[in-house]
Amino acid sequence: MAKKYSSLLLFFLLLNSLPNSDASPEYSRPPPRPAIFIGPTRSESDPEQVHISLVGKDHMRVTWITSHKHEKSIVEYGTSPGNYDKSSMTGERMSYRYFFYNSGEIHHITIGPLGPNTTYYYRCGGNGPEFSFKTPPSTFPIEFAIVGDLGQTEWTASTLKHIGAKDYDVLLLPGDLSYADTQQPLWDSFGRLVEPYASKRPWMVTHGNHEIETFPIIYRHGFKAYNSRWLMPYQESGSTSNLYYSFDVAGCHVIMLGSYVDFDAQSDQYMWLQADLAKVDRVVTPWIFVLVHVPWYNSNLAHKGEGESMRKSMEELLYNARVDVVFAGHVHAYERFTRVYDNKADPCGPIYLTIGDGGNREGLAMIFENPSPSISMFREASFGHGRLKVHNETHAHWSWHRNNESNNTFMADELWLKSFASSKSCLPHEKFQEMKTHIKDEL
Ligand SMILES: [Fe+2]
Repeated sequence: MAKKYSSLLLFFLLLNSLPNSDASPEYSRPPPRPAIFIGPTRSESDPEQVHISLVGKDHMRVTWITSHKHEKSIVEYGTSPGNYDKSSMTGERMSYRYFFYNSGEIHHITIGPLGPNTTYYYRCGGNGPEFSFKTPPSTFPIEFAIVGDLGQTEWTASTLKHIGAKDYDVLLLPGDLSYADTQQPLWDSFGRLVEPYASKRPWMVTHGNHEIETFPIIYRHGFKAYNSRWLMPYQESGSTSNLYYSFDVAGCHVIMLGSYVDFDAQSDQYMWLQADLAKVDRVVTPWIFVLVHVPWYNSNLAHKGEGESMRKSMEELLYNARVDVVFAGHVHAYERFTRVYDNKADPCGPIYLTIGDGGNREGLAMIFENPSPSISMFREASFGHGRLKVHNETHAHWSWHRNNESNNTFMADELWLKSFASSKSCLPHEKFQEMKTHIKDEL
């Protein structure tokens, strides 16, 4: 087994000259912490790399991988340990090939309906260890943990430990998961690294540049491993692509955009976003949060201006609909902007946050432009994660936690947010109302 992995790794290391890296000569970074590689620890028939994700109002998708092709795709579950009074075989299974690498069998099974705020115990494939998860609440309060650009280094392990040390309901990840960068065994290693966290709470992710993994002629469309392993509930939100989607949870509408999918005004993603925003009922989901990998606002020298064409295409849609917050990754640092629209402070624009500081092997993006632009309120190149606690229809609390702090309650940055749904001065723009009427007429 070890020999098979080392030869595969060597092969993919040779391939790793593709243009997916964040490396840039304009800034220098401190030495990153060592990479972590986790090989198989269970028997070949046992499930591994278990993670869960939300599907619809009261269902959960359980994803796991088996080495053997003929293991059963079944999830047994119940509300007390070892007592599985329900089971499901609803879903799909898949595997993929990438050059000489053959993935294990990837099982995606949907279970439910599930009660809110309830702990379930479950087993995958009829054998192996028992796992448990807690479903999110159906109403406020709800707490999100948010971090991008995770990778798999000792910094990543530190970030995950900090996230896991305090309870939360749903993890949101704005792109760049495993940093496998075509070295497929690293996707498996990443699955094992995050399993203790991603099997307990739903992980909702969108893609970054490290998920692309294109190769000329052979893998032109990319995202082969990502789409196979991290299947998100895109069909439920009317999207035709796993690369962008939305979902509702406890009064929040969360939109996951795709930085590396067409986003111009004629694109499928743009049309879908228009229709998705038009469908949001602010009485049911007063809050709208958007995640996208490449930041539209960024005063770090790393990746400066990369999000500009997407911003120019889509910013007006989010502004007119009164999106509350836009989270991004890509830049390996933390930055918080004020409410912004079209590069200017605007009380009716979203707060923009960059939270690409999960701990990947490329290290931190150390250099910010000087002087700081007036719309940038806080910025720091440290690894860490964010938490968004949505208390009720009107108020939410954002906090950023550095990994360097041993005290988990310490907040290096924090901010209280008031929802646009409760604002009388920032009603949805008249252009948004016109678009909504137009879209409804078409349906
Ligand atoms: Fe990135």
